[in-house]
Amino acid sequence: MGFLERQVDVHSLAGRPPLAVVRVVLKPAAADDVPPVRDLHARSFATLARSHHRKNEMAAQLALIRSPDYAGELLGANLALAVDGGGRIVATGGWQPMPSRPGTARIRKIFVEPALARQGLGRLMVSDAEARARRSGFNDFYVRANLNAVPLYQALGYREIAEGLMALDGGVSLPVVFMEKTRAMAKPPGDQP
Ligand SMILES: CC(C)(COP(=O)(O)OP(=O)(O)OC[C@H]1O[C@@H](n2cnc3c(N)ncnc32)[C@H](O)[C@@H]1OP(=O)(O)O)[C@@H](O)C(=O)NCCC(=O)NCCS
Repeated sequence: MGFLERQVDVHSLAGRPPLAVVRVVLKPAAADDVPPVRDLHARSFATLARSHHRKNEMAAQLALIRSPDYAGELLGANLALAVDGGGRIVATGGWQPMPSRPGTARIRKIFVEPALARQGLGRLMVSDAEARARRSGFNDFYVRANLNAVPLYQALGYREIAEGLMALDGGVSLPVVFMEKTRAMAKPPGDQP
């Protein structure tokens, strides 16, 4: 739904001199992509989220990424892949309609190759998912952010709604932050109906 295949020089989005030039093409995910996407998500979470979680939380989230249900989640999330010049998937990002919030897209599955963190890939994948959702008529955004991802969403204009817990197998809960970015937030004070 609304995918554009295109090439993006990621460093240019970070607005600073590049540590490395990462040239990626964005394309839609297909069933064949599930195994390498799982590998990327596991690697990404294990490395980039480690400092925010206890060992049992890490293990439970990694088990979820390896679970059969996760494939369905990936394929139901309008997932885009960022693929580098060598054909390697280096980031993902998707969105889904929220039945409980008409007109709102839930941003999902933003994961970045750890070696390429802080190069603008996360920003790229969220912005791409938002743009695709907008083209489908969804103009407000919501995310259940992992703790390590909160600064990314803040940088992209999201605000915190509440802290929460995401239930995982084995009675483990992952702390998360629910965040949103709505059209109402963009309006100046006093401009509300
Ligand atoms: C969260 C994540 C997607 C960020 O990806 P990224 O490519 O490193 O982020 P970007 O380079 O696009 O960062 C954009 C801006 O977000 C903010 N930001 C991102 N990561 C940050 C961090 N660890 N600490 C502080 N600010 C951060 C900064 O303002 C940054 O801009 P700057 O680099 O010019 O200062 C990545 O760390 C990741 O994949 N984490 C593990 C998987 C995960 O938990 N995903 C989230 C699911 S909700």
